[in-house]
Amino acid sequence: MLTIEELSVFCKKKGFVFPSTEIYGGMTGFFDYGPLGVELKNNLKSSWWKTFVSTREDVQGIDGTNISSGKIWEASGHLANFTDVLVQCKKCGKNQRADNLVEDVLKINVDGLNAEALSKIIQDNTIKCPECKGEFGEAKNFNLMFPVQLGAETTKDSTAFLRGETAQLIFANYKNIVDSGRVKLPFGIAQIGKAFRNEIAPRNFLFRQREFEQMELEFFVRPEDKKCPLLEKRQLELEFLFLSEKDQDAKQEHNKVKVSDLLAQGLLTEWHAYWLAESYLWFTELGVRKEHLRIRQHIKKELSHYSSATFDVEYKFAFGWKEIHGNANRGQFDLTQHQKFSGKSMEIFDEETKSKILPAVIEPSFGVDRAFLTLIADAYHDDKERGNIVLKLSPKIAPVQVGVFPLVNKLDEKTREVFNSLRKEFVCQFDRSGSIGRRYARADEIGIPFCVTVDFDTLNDHCVTVRDRDTTKQERVRIVDLKQYLTLRFGY
Ligand code: GAP
Repeated sequence: MLTIEELSVFCKKKGFVFPSTEIYGGMTGFFDYGPLGVELKNNLKSSWWKTFVSTREDVQGIDGTNISSGKIWEASGHLANFTDVLVQCKKCGKNQRADNLVEDVLKINVDGLNAEALSKIIQDNTIKCPECKGEFGEAKNFNLMFPVQLGAETTKDSTAFLRGETAQLIFANYKNIVDSGRVKLPFGIAQIGKAFRNEIAPRNFLFRQREFEQMELEFFVRPEDKKCPLLEKRQLELEFLFLSEKDQDAKQEHNKVKVSDLLAQGLLTEWHAYWLAESYLWFTELGVRKEHLRIRQHIKKELSHYSSATFDVEYKFAFGWKEIHGNANRGQFDLTQHQKFSGKSMEIFDEETKSKILPAVIEPSFGVDRAFLTLIADAYHDDKERGNIVLKLSPKIAPVQVGVFPLVNKLDEKTREVFNSLRKEFVCQFDRSGSIGRRYARADEIGIPFCVTVDFDTLNDHCVTVRDRDTTKQERVRIVDLKQYLTLRFGY
């Protein structure tokens, strides 16, 4: 399996992702997206928006600010609870995230252990600093929120924060949306945008960064609603690998289960099951292989301060099964807190029960960068027979959709004609350099699903050759039919 370092080298070489400000030595935990990366990222974000917002009647979008008042983060509990455990080497002064350190050295899972418990494990096992073999001091909590000073004054009120999750801007705007949008329960509010966390130890390329992007949906339901009318065969019959809390306690492997099994065991509510299934399906519908995905139930100790039940979708990376999506039952926690701290009622009038109620929330939360990493890692195939990498990205999100090539440079003019007619509909790349085999290989490496070649016969029969990236099969297609042919192949 390709290591995460090899994947980052590939992404840089092909223009997907670069270390940020590399000419000045770069900064740990910050990355910039290059020409191909930004196309792929935009495509995955629009796929998400289309699936979870614009094709639904019950979800609306917002775009909130990156910097917000400390009061929001006090109310949400982030200033008090949004922490990781840090240990510092007494000799070289290097900081380490305590749970990562213990997991790396002892190969055990320490999810949810507090500073005291982690300190004890480090001392009992005499774990030394990996950098200088020095001793570690006591473990302590470290808050991940980034403070920002507003203006020239330095008072408590002039300290704002870069948002640690996009979700809070949704809660802060929820009343505006209810008042301006005539929404009826159940309904959702979604947002795509940056989030910032002062991670102690950013690592594994895009996986753990200090600045990243989230795609979050807060779905508001009546707290006492046990039934989800949207739950049907598509979700109930969905089968996936599942690691329950019980399995983790008993150190068992994951099992294959259906959503209906989780409901029968009472592990989650119907609304939670619906959104968990829809979230999982977004990944598989973009081509991520089911055997590389699993759902893991959070054990009690690791639940976030706002959640009563959380299920992660995990991907099997070269560095282990890791969270790429979190699906939490936040209940009434956030609205209750904002009601208390702002002094403004967060209740809304429910037409069905003809009463004022404080909704409960189910939250499907996606990381754009982790989805990006998953899609590239899963698409990457080292094809020994072809002698090149084939990036089998779904045609729905491939950064370049069609490669257009003249067989020889003499055919440039005719090829440009074809290229110009296609680029209004598809993202196309014109490539005339090197042998045709080399051009196919280059197209494979950046995941172009279809390549169109103009040859000498084209001048007489007005047909081109279309090559399929995954099968390498070639078909002759009339130029007049080409747009329709490709549209069908893209499944639009
Ligand atoms: N609103 C809930 C929330 O923020 P989370 O599990 O902390 O929950 C949600 O984050 C998603 O955001 C994760 O599943 C992951 O995809 C992404 N994410 C979190 N921290 C990240 C980081 N440091 N770098 C990149 N992505 C991150």
